Order: sequence, then structure tokens, then C-alpha cells
Amino acid sequence: MKALRGKTGRWGFCSAGLMLVAIVLLISAGGRAEPLDSPKAEEDAKPASNAEDDLLDVADKKNETEKSPADIGFELLVTRPYVNPEFSDAEFDELWKVWEEPARSEAEKATPEERRELTLLRYGLQHRPQGTPGGEAQAGMPIQYLRRDDGEWVVNCFACHGGKVAGRVIPGLPNSHFAMQTLWADVRTSRFAKDEYTLKDLAGGFLPMGGSNGTTNAVAFGVLLGSRRDIHADLDMDRPLPKLLHHDVEAPPWWNVKKKKWLYADGFVSSDNHRSLIQFAMGPENSGAKLRGWDKDYQFIMAYIKSLEAPEYPFEVDAELAAEGEQYFNNTCAECHGTYGENETYPNRHVPIEEIGTDRARFDSLTPEYRQAFQESWFADYGRSPVVTEPVGYMAPPLDGIWASAPYFHNGSVPTLWHVLNVNERPTVWKRTEDGYDTDRIGLEVAEFDNLPEGIYDLRVRRTYFDTTQFSKSAAGHDFPEQLTHEQKLAVLEYLKTL
Ligand code: HEC
Ligand code: HEC
Repeated sequence: MKALRGKTGRWGFCSAGLMLVAIVLLISAGGRAEPLDSPKAEEDAKPASNAEDDLLDVADKKNETEKSPADIGFELLVTRPYVNPEFSDAEFDELWKVWEEPARSEAEKATPEERRELTLLRYGLQHRPQGTPGGEAQAGMPIQYLRRDDGEWVVNCFACHGGKVAGRVIPGLPNSHFAMQTLWADVRTSRFAKDEYTLKDLAGGFLPMGGSNGTTNAVAFGVLLGSRRDIHADLDMDRPLPKLLHHDVEAPPWWNVKKKKWLYADGFVSSDNHRSLIQFAMGPENSGAKLRGWDKDYQFIMAYIKSLEAPEYPFEVDAELAAEGEQYFNNTCAECHGTYGENETYPNRHVPIEEIGTDRARFDSLTPEYRQAFQESWFADYGRSPVVTEPVGYMAPPLDGIWASAPYFHNGSVPTLWHVLNVNERPTVWKRTEDGYDTDRIGLEVAEFDNLPEGIYDLRVRRTYFDTTQFSKSAAGHDFPEQLTHEQKLAVLEYLKTL
């Protein structure tokens, strides 16, 4: 999620300008009509919130021990709406009515509770883990949405940053099940069926949300929404629309942010920059004053993100083999990924795109001018927060908890660590199971195919396959492990479980 442009005219115009304007409205408003804040009215707008006062107050009143900034950050993420709602409780529970057969009949026969489970499953949403704040008001909500007082559902960061592995829900784990496009398509169909659709629903059909479950077009959303903001993050709907490179990416795990000096696949924003995270809320329903008013909230949210620890591998490890693997890892991989254990190191390396050789769509999607404009804007504290305006390629990420965050690479194209280590064995097309975990190859349990099986016309079903022949979905590159023998790779694989 990133965006921004300081000056006009740098990106050129998109021929489908009008359509895009409608889309901008759509992705921010989620199809619900809410009044837009006028930029002119901003001066009078009072700061949207002061998380510290609100939440510390609440803590005081309840006579609880003082909450840490990280606790406050987590509570904000699961209780405070930062964008417009997408649908109501009732609407969500009726989506099954537009499902294809036999799913619809199964849902019809099910109890309301079972039906809710089927609905969550279809869209890649999971129940909040025990102990998640929010109380009664958020009871029964998935981690990826929160419920407003009026029963409307508002998406939060965990839509992409909270997921499950081997059946366990972990906040901060990328949501490798998220079926964003399918959810929006069903909401739209449901509104069409009831004759309740809006222009925004119509426009939304044109903006790709994500061509495979677990990945989204998040970077292009950011560029598009950012293009409606001036240098102070104030709305300016008259700005020229940028060219967009639609491409799918997977969110990285949050527990590594505290190790990183730079954020995002190409490492262009400082990890001290909490304002970059506010790009999530850039839809036109939020005035610049509102975004700026959330500055403190996002400091707490960043504190929460940086407090997270990688989950431990829950299955068996051969300690002797892992110790052997550590040697090979330190010789072959550590120069980029760092060392682990007692004296940890992490080199924060930007690896040139030609050298890494993984899919380059993400790299190409942001221009130097775009990054420059971001650097000059409020989002980078007007140049005071460092921005790399001409990154060379992708960051080599820390590998803590790497067992949990499959699929791999920034575009989520490689289903297991075994496939990361064996360049020539990576499947062209793969399809995961819901909760299966592959303890031999470490990562998703998948079926592999040479091609997309024939006869799959339903786009919803097609998105359950990852097809590496599609644009932005290549699983090529990163052939460094090929320096190792088969036995050495097995040892490294064992070692990777322990990180
Ligand atoms: C629609 C999916 C989506 C939503 C919603 C979302 N993100 Fe992200 N986020 C991503 C993707 C994809 C990336 C990787 C982008 C890249 O590398 O260019 C990312 C990257 C990040 C990173 C950088 C992590 C790293 O290691 O470099 C942080 C931090 C982050 N998001 C925080 C947030 C916060 C906070 C919110 C909510 C306010 C949020 N995101 C909402 C998809 C999402
Ligand atoms: C020259 C630098 C370099 C070397 C050497 C290197 N890597 Fe990487 N590695 C990267 C970069 C850059 C990425 C990110 C690629 C992307 O996302 O497109 C990456 C990604 C990965 C990932 C996926 C991470 C994720 O979160 O999806 C794994 C696993 C990995 N490397 C393991 C290894 C192992 C094991 C070795 C040694 C055998 C190794 N790497 C050697 C640079 C390197």
C-alpha cells in the first residue's frame, strides 16, 4: 500500500480517466454512500481522534494496568474504522444467495452459524484469536473486519496482514487465503440481484483486486488513491490520473518489520515512517485533516507491528541436521539474509533486479518520480524521513518465522521452501488445500500442474489456482541455492525451520 504524487503531470494520463474516477470513489467507499469530506472544510475539521486520550482514558476508567503503545496499536486496528464500510452484517450473511451450485444449496440447508462459517471460508476470512480486544461490539467478527456501532463492516489491515497457517490464526501473518476479488464480485452480484447497486459497484468491476487468492493489487490501489492527494495529503480530485501497472503482490509478515531499515519489497521507505501506513486510509472519504489527525494512532500501530515476534515451528526438527544446515546457510545465504541465533545480523541489502531475477512487475510499478513525490510529501515528513528514490531491486528479507509465511517471494509465487531451494522443480501452476501444511517441503500443501486445468471458466475457481505464467506471477529467479548439493539443501531446509 503506497502512493503519492507531489506535482502534477509526471505520470501522464490514463485514457479511461472517467472510469478511473469512479473507481477511486469505489475503492474508498466500498460501494456505500457516505458523505465526502470537502478539502475546503478541512481547516475547521477537528482532529479525527486522539488514540492516546481515548484509549488511555478507557484504561484508566477500568482501573487496568497501563496499556503499552503496542497494546493500544492492536486495539486500534481491531476496533477503530479508518475507511468507509463495505457492507452490513445482514448483507454479508446473505451473500450465499448468489453463490453457484452446489455451494448455494449447501448454504441454504445449513444453520445460520454453519452458513457464516462457509461464508468466511469462501472469502479467506478467519475468526479473531482468543484475547483479541473489542469486546461484545466485535463478537463473532473475523480478524480482517471490524463492526461499527451501526452494524456496518469496515475492512482493516488484517485483511492482508492477518492469516492462518496450518489452521492457526496469527495476526501479522500474511493472509494467504484472502479472496478479495471474489468477495467484491459477490457483493456486487448480490446488489445487482436486489437492484441496489450504485455507480461505485459498477465501476468496481473494472479494477482488478487480485488474480489469485492471497495476493492483491494493493500497490496499484495506493498509487491510484495517492494520485488524488497533494503534497500535504489534502484531497485534490482534479489531478491527472497516473498510469497504473496492475500486478499482484503478497503482504510480507509484520514480525520482520522491527529488523528492517527499509519497508516494502523494493525497500524505498524508512521503517521509522509510520505515516506511510496511513496510505491505507487515503480514500476520498478521509480529508487530509483526518489523515493528519491519525498521526498518533499510526505511531501506536507501528509500535504494535514492531512488537511482534515470529511464531515458532510447531512440528519436529532434526537438531543435528539443522546445525549442519546453519553452516551452509551462513556460507551461501547470510550475506543477503543475515545470521540468526545469539549474535544476529541483518544487512538490509537491496539486491539488483537483474541479480535476483524474480518477477519485476512490482519493481517497475513505481517510478523514480513517484518515489520523489512521496519523499517531498507529508507522508515522508516533507523529506525528513528517508526515501530511496531509485532502488535497484528487491530487499533480501529477514527469514525469521519463514516456515509460516508461505507462499514465498514478494508475489507469493512459490508454495514451499523446498521449491525456493530447487529452482527447476517449482510448479508452473499450483493449488493449495485449506489448512494442509507440508512438513516435508515446508510450506503450503499443494497440488501441482503443468498448465491450468482445462474447463475452468468460473473466475472464482480460477483464482484458487496460482498460475505462474500470468503477468506479475512468475516464480523464476533467486537461483542462489543451486550452489548447494541435494544433501546440503536438505540440511538448509531443516535449518530454515528453526528461524
Ligand atoms: C489489500 C491488502 C493490504 C491491506 C488492507 C494493508 N496492506 Fe500493508 N501491505 C500489503 C502489501 C501487498 C504489502 C507489500 C507491498 C510492497 O512490498 O510493495 C504491504 C506492506 C506493508 C508493510 C511493509 C512491511 C515490510 O516488511 O516491508 C507494512 C508495515 C504494512 N503493509 C502495514 C499495513 C497497515 C498498518 C495497514 C492498515 C492500516 C495495511 N498494511 C493494510 C497489503 C495490504
Ligand atoms: C544475493 C542475495 C541473496 C542470496 C545470496 C540469497 N537470497 Fe534469498 N532472497 C533474496 C532476495 C532479494 C529475496 C526477495 C525476492 C523476492 O521477493 O522477489 C529473497 C527471498 C528469499 C526467500 C523468500 C522470502 C519470503 O519472505 O518470501 C527465501 C526463503 C530465501 N530467499 C532463502 C534463501 C536461501 C536459503 C539462500 C541461500 C541458499 C538465499 N536465500 C540466498 C536475496 C538473496
